[in-house]
Amino acid sequence: MPARIYITRPLPAGVAEHLREAGMEVEIYPKDQVIPQDVLLRAVEECDGLLCLLTDMIGREVLARAGRLRIIANYAVGYNNIDVEEATRRGIAVTNTPGVLTDATADLAWALLFAAARRVVEAERYLREGRFQGWGPQLFLGQEITGRTLGVVGLGRIGQAFASRASAFRMKILYNSLEADPEFEGAYPYGASRVDLDTLLQQSDFVSLHVPLTSETHHLIGRRELRLMRPHAVLINTARGPVVDEAALAQALREGWIWSAGLDVYENEPAVHPGLLTLPNVVLLPHVGSATFATRLRMGLMAAGNLIAYFQGRRPPNLVNGGVWKNG
Ligand code: GLV
Ligand code: GLV
Repeated sequence: MPARIYITRPLPAGVAEHLREAGMEVEIYPKDQVIPQDVLLRAVEECDGLLCLLTDMIGREVLARAGRLRIIANYAVGYNNIDVEEATRRGIAVTNTPGVLTDATADLAWALLFAAARRVVEAERYLREGRFQGWGPQLFLGQEITGRTLGVVGLGRIGQAFASRASAFRMKILYNSLEADPEFEGAYPYGASRVDLDTLLQQSDFVSLHVPLTSETHHLIGRRELRLMRPHAVLINTARGPVVDEAALAQALREGWIWSAGLDVYENEPAVHPGLLTLPNVVLLPHVGSATFATRLRMGLMAAGNLIAYFQGRRPPNLVNGGVWKNG
C-alpha cells in the first residue's frame, strides 16, 4: 500500500510531483488559505504523512485523531506550531526545513533594518500621496547604519547569516546566545563579542532577533528590555512574534523609548496589535522572511524528502525528535 500524504495548502509546483514520483498517494487541501480545523481533523485520520505549515496548529486535539499518522513534515524551520512532545509520545516523527531558508530570511531582516533605519516605507508613502515638494535638508532624516553597533540575539544559522552581512557596513557586533562562537568571532572583521542580553540592549544601535520560540524566549523582549534600549535604537524581528511583547513595543515606539522597528512576525498572527498599525515608525511585513521563489521550492522539496526518507525506511534528514527513530 502506498503511503498517503496530506498537504494542507497548495505549494510551489514540483513538491507534490516529487512525492508522487516516489510512489506516494498525495492529497492537497485545494484552497490557498489556512485549512479549517474540521478539515484538518478529518484529513489526519486518514493519512500516514502530513506536510503542514507553520499556520497549522498541530496540538493534542489533532494528534489524538491521527491514529495512523507516522510523520509530520513541517514546511518551516520553526516548529512551535507542533506539540512535539505529544507527537514523540505517540511515536510520530517531526521534521523541519533548516538551512534552505537561512539566506532568504537573513536578507529580509536586512531589508527591514534598512527600511526602519532610513524610513523607506514612510517616505515612499509620502511621495505617493503627492506631498514631495523637492529635496529638503531635513526631509526624512533617519539613522546611520555604517560603522554602528549591531546586536544579534540568537546566533544560530539565520542569526549568523544575518550578522555576517554586517561586515559590508563595517559594523561592530554584539551577540547573545547560549554558547560563544569563537569561529564566527574570529572570522568577523569588525569585532564580534558575546555579551549578556541586557548589555546587548544597552549598547546596540540595532537589535535583531533570531531565536526560536520556546517557553524561555516568550516575551524575551518586554517593557523592561525595551526600556534598556537606546532612544535611537531600531528593533528587528523576523523570528517569531511572541518573542516580543507587542503591546509593550507599541508603547515603546509611541513614547520614543526606541526609535523604530521592523517586524515580519506577530504575537497573534495574522492579527497585528492595533497600537502598531497607526504608528509611522514601524515597518510591518506579512511574515515573508523565506518568501522567494527558489527558497519556497527548496523548502517544499526538503519537506517531501523527509517524508520519502521515512516511508523508504531511512531516517528523515531533518528529524527534530530523534527519540522516535529506532530503526538504527
Ligand atoms: C518561517 O517562519 C519558518 O519558520 O520557516
Ligand atoms: C544629495 O542628493 C546630495 O547630492 O548631497
